[in-house]
Amino acid sequence: MARRKKIYEGKAKTLYEGPEPGTIVQYFKDDATAFNAEKHAVIEGKGVLNNILSEFFMLGLGQIGVPTHFLKRLNMREQLVRSCEIIPLEIIVRNYAAGTICKRLGIDEGTQLPRPVVEYCYKDDALGDPLVTEEHIAAFGWASQQDMDDILSLALRVNDFMSGVMLAVGIRLVDFKIEIGRIYDGDFQRLVVADEISPDSCRLWDIKTGQKLDKDVFRRDLGSLTDAYTEVARRLGVMPNNPPAPGKPTLVN
Ligand code: TYD
Repeated sequence: MARRKKIYEGKAKTLYEGPEPGTIVQYFKDDATAFNAEKHAVIEGKGVLNNILSEFFMLGLGQIGVPTHFLKRLNMREQLVRSCEIIPLEIIVRNYAAGTICKRLGIDEGTQLPRPVVEYCYKDDALGDPLVTEEHIAAFGWASQQDMDDILSLALRVNDFMSGVMLAVGIRLVDFKIEIGRIYDGDFQRLVVADEISPDSCRLWDIKTGQKLDKDVFRRDLGSLTDAYTEVARRLGVMPNNPPAPGKPTLVN
């Protein structure tokens, strides 16, 4: 394999310099982490599923006019994306109560919220990604007021798209997290949905049974994470085909 420059190694992905300026290759690893990386495991096949699911969601968003950093999937584990400056915020949209909002506000898990609730966390692992308000974001200059208006509108569009896509296959989109990047075109900047959208960063429950089909399966030891993500991919019709074993040509009629 040709040597290429590693730009960053995260918990679930490694980023490499892309083939052209302004591009990056995102490599999806099989590592799963939870509770700010206190829990860690390698789950075979997770990276392949997240790569393909993220491609599916990013392409769909592009088709409805939501800008993303996605360019194309390169292979089972890698995708080419536009390099952007990531705004240091985790943007969370919640439709039903789960996770930290339950503890924080004393709401029962699964309660439908009166409307989608958008929260912002400051991206800093050492601090445990603390919840911040728009006051903090403005005061510390992480994003401008115009950025925040655009981010809110992007987050709600992603929520409507993802809720609809999931509803069509019998899955409830409970909540999710996105990251937003800035791309500079000359003097202008535009915001795009960046990073990934996958069951690692969403809560997905089967509508009929309530079965969890997301990273909570790993967080709470509820069974096989690969089986859960495979079920999401199967329902969406994007199950990766097994690549042919090396050295064994496939007969084409
Ligand atoms: P939240 O309930 O705030 O935290 P936790 O997952 O630790 O209970 O998370 C809301 C949604 O956002 C959930 O689907 C997980 C996702 N999320 C991430 O993927 N990464 C993050 O760093 C954070 C804070 C949330």
